[in-house]
Amino acid sequence: MAYQTITTETRGPIGLITLNRPKVLNALNTELIGELCAAVDGYEADPKIGCMVITGSDKAFAAGADIKEMSDLTYIEAFSQNFGATLERIGKARKPIVAAVAGYCLGGGAELAMQCDIIIAAETAKFGQPEITLGIMPGMGGTQRLPRAIGKAKAMDMILTGRMMDAAEADSSGLVSRVVPAGDLLEEAIKVAEKIADHSLPIVMLAKESVNRSFETTLSEGVQVERRLFHSMFATGDQKEGMAAFLAKRSPQFRNR
Ligand code: HXC
Repeated sequence: MAYQTITTETRGPIGLITLNRPKVLNALNTELIGELCAAVDGYEADPKIGCMVITGSDKAFAAGADIKEMSDLTYIEAFSQNFGATLERIGKARKPIVAAVAGYCLGGGAELAMQCDIIIAAETAKFGQPEITLGIMPGMGGTQRLPRAIGKAKAMDMILTGRMMDAAEADSSGLVSRVVPAGDLLEEAIKVAEKIADHSLPIVMLAKESVNRSFETTLSEGVQVERRLFHSMFATGDQKEGMAAFLAKRSPQFRNR
């Protein structure tokens, strides 16, 4: 598929998506968001793909929603189009997605990264929700996902001041899972994705679903969901294979069934 604003490539079981609007620091316009969602749809449907990676350039993962495109939007257009809703597709992916972030990761870019399952940051990464400086607030999940990721104190600080957070602060705040040297970012992200893709895909998907449920429900309901999903795993061949391989002291050969 020929995309204009992203590039895609597969590396074994990994679907790699690179945001590619370098002149505007990968600002997320309607076209890019549409292409990104189409690429994720394609990898979700491809049984050979076990994990996705979304990345940007050295300078920017994405510097936010495209301000030029948004600047003349009217209320009725924003409401009618349900502006901002399309990107929710990323958070609804059933297969895991790793975000590999270098440089600016701002506004809608940070909201995109937070819809991925794991964020790996280069030392150069800078996270922020600068919408307040534009006379708006985050509108693609930032006011909801940021406090869940880093707590109210830091989230309010970021959203109300519009300041940026460097990679070290993002790491200590729990926004990212690890920080790596900039030159190693993609390689490290692919390694993490390969590790995930080595496991049984349906089990990985169930684990992801169970973790995500923790953000949507009470503890007792969540634990109940976890237990039911856990029980269901004993109906899979991959549970039999994983445990048999452990007991036989060999590597498991998961077959995604
Ligand atoms: C459109 C953008 C852009 C954006 C950068 N550019 N960010 N265009 N939308 N979000 C463009 C610039 O206009 C410029 O184009 C080129 O990219 C390079 O940017 P510079 O500003 O010259 O680079 P630099 O001086 O290095 O500064 C980098 C930066 C700055 C600090 C990241 O670009 C910046 O503050 N960008 C805006 C960040 C932001 O406010 N994001 C939130 C957007 S709102 P030209 O043509 O001049 O070369 C949002 C809401 C989401 O995300 C919710 C929607 C529902």
